[in-house]
Amino acid sequence: MTITSTTLENSDFAASLSVSSDHPRASLAADVATELANLGPSGAPKQIWLEEAHDSDTAILEHLATPYRDLLQLRRPLPAPPSGLLTRAFDPSTDAEAFFAVNNRAFAWHPEQSGFDQARLDDAMAEPWFNPQGFRILELDGVMAGFCWTKLHQELTPVIGEIYVIAIDPDFHGRGLGGPMTLAGLEWMSDQGITVANLYVEADNAPALATYDRLGFSTHSINRAFTTAK
Ligand SMILES: CC(C)(COP(=O)(O)OP(=O)(O)OC[C@H]1O[C@@H](n2cnc3c(N)ncnc32)[C@H](O)[C@@H]1OP(=O)(O)O)[C@@H](O)C(=O)NCCC(=O)NCCS
Repeated sequence: MTITSTTLENSDFAASLSVSSDHPRASLAADVATELANLGPSGAPKQIWLEEAHDSDTAILEHLATPYRDLLQLRRPLPAPPSGLLTRAFDPSTDAEAFFAVNNRAFAWHPEQSGFDQARLDDAMAEPWFNPQGFRILELDGVMAGFCWTKLHQELTPVIGEIYVIAIDPDFHGRGLGGPMTLAGLEWMSDQGITVANLYVEADNAPALATYDRLGFSTHSINRAFTTAK
């Protein structure tokens, strides 16, 4: 049970609190109020992320902050049906620029995933979970049309395979590629012996939700963000 706080730069928020799912609800409002007070007065609002939020939690925090964003965790068992797309592994030496271009065009609207650059790629590649084989690339007509980047959570039992980042280049949207691209990532996970897949998706991302719903994903939990802005 924890509440951690991070001060933010280049953000709409001065700081972000993260409340773990097992934090006792009886003391939730008082503990969040204390953490907010510890961060001190500031012009910019603060953000609070509540892991595995329930509607009753929203009422508990009502006098402190307002919910403004839901991140759904979806899950489905594996194996899934075959993708049918021919994909290949990511090659950091030749794919980086095309990956940044596709990612940054597809996620131009996204607060965290937009503006991906070499420094962020280097950080990700230094993580123990990084595996270029699990970062599936789709090329069509000689250009990168999309990717499905997966992450295996070896620290969990059973190991969960995450669709970590997935995008189809906007030039290729609406051609029915989102589903098979997701399945390409799921297929790679199944080949590694993974039996459960998850992913996180914004609750208002209609094209992504339609894609995942069609593939048999269902909601496992909701992480809810609140803002102290009035
Ligand atoms: C999500 C994404 C990968 C889907 O790829 P795509 O190539 O657009 O997929 P499709 O052509 O199969 O369309 C997906 C579904 O969205 C629907 N759709 C498309 N635009 C839509 C819109 N604006 N509102 C509602 N639904 C929409 C399509 O009708 C389709 O639904 P259906 O299968 O029930 O017919 C792609 O839209 C994308 O890269 N988005 C930006 C990045 C992103 O959000 N990634 C997912 C993060 S979790």
